[in-house]
Amino acid sequence: MKSLVSINDIDKTTILKICQRALEIKTHGFSKTLPDKIIATLFFEPSTRTKLSFQSAILRSGAQILNFEADNSSLKKGETLEDTIRMTSAYADLIVIRHPEAGSALRAQQVSSCPIINAGDGTNEHPTQTLLDLVTILEHHGSLDGFTITLGGDLKYSRTIPSLLHALANFDVKIILASPQLLSLPDHLKANFQDKIILQTHSLKEGLKSDYFYMTRVQKERITGTTDITFEEDWILNKNLCEQYANQNTKILHPLPRVNEITTDIDDSPYQLYFTQAENGVYTRIALLEYILGVY
Ligand code: CP
Repeated sequence: MKSLVSINDIDKTTILKICQRALEIKTHGFSKTLPDKIIATLFFEPSTRTKLSFQSAILRSGAQILNFEADNSSLKKGETLEDTIRMTSAYADLIVIRHPEAGSALRAQQVSSCPIINAGDGTNEHPTQTLLDLVTILEHHGSLDGFTITLGGDLKYSRTIPSLLHALANFDVKIILASPQLLSLPDHLKANFQDKIILQTHSLKEGLKSDYFYMTRVQKERITGTTDITFEEDWILNKNLCEQYANQNTKILHPLPRVNEITTDIDDSPYQLYFTQAENGVYTRIALLEYILGVY
């Protein structure tokens, strides 16, 4: 039984297969490849893109959604995550889960009788975000090799960053780390990717000299303690900074939602690729559902 709890659950060949299938769907249109399948979407944490693009992917591919409202469920009576998953897996062919605790998707997989897709678990991972990031780069660059990517912003608390780093390790890429000092990539993660990291900087301007600049917001909801971390003015990305410091063809990616770290004057500029990235979530998630449910 295939699941996607960590991006490391799939190898380079499978990553490429899913990305290529996503772009095939984008080019040739939707088809009902998953009739009669029931897919449960269990979101224990707020989401716009991931939840709606999964639900769109389910409907576009001819499957049915089994929706779960955490606030209206027996969680309110004290039911555990494990019991919730055991029951849901008896009613569905696949479970998509987002949960605020790191490791919750693995806990779900351990008790589920159907496949699990991790739609984000705490600070741990967000593997489906990574797949759509790669689809976007593959579509734009034509390959997942031969580019430089800057991972920028909150590298300490973002769950998209560990998943993306693990996936990029499969490809011939150069990585720049650019973050405010307090939000640097943890050492244990950095150590695993030393051969790819060509620069670590605390300057947004320096990080902009790259083919792709992948910005992340401060993950306030995951920062514990009393420290109120916000980006200083020099960490707000605007069009003027892009024009002064980015390469001519630099593209800005962002998993979204943005708060204030990318100003809206970039939206209509040639640097913007983040809306295409979000749109690619639907094609990517159809391709992933098909893979997990054995269509290819
Ligand atoms: N990128 C992402 O996970 O967005 P949502 O939180 O809106 O799902």
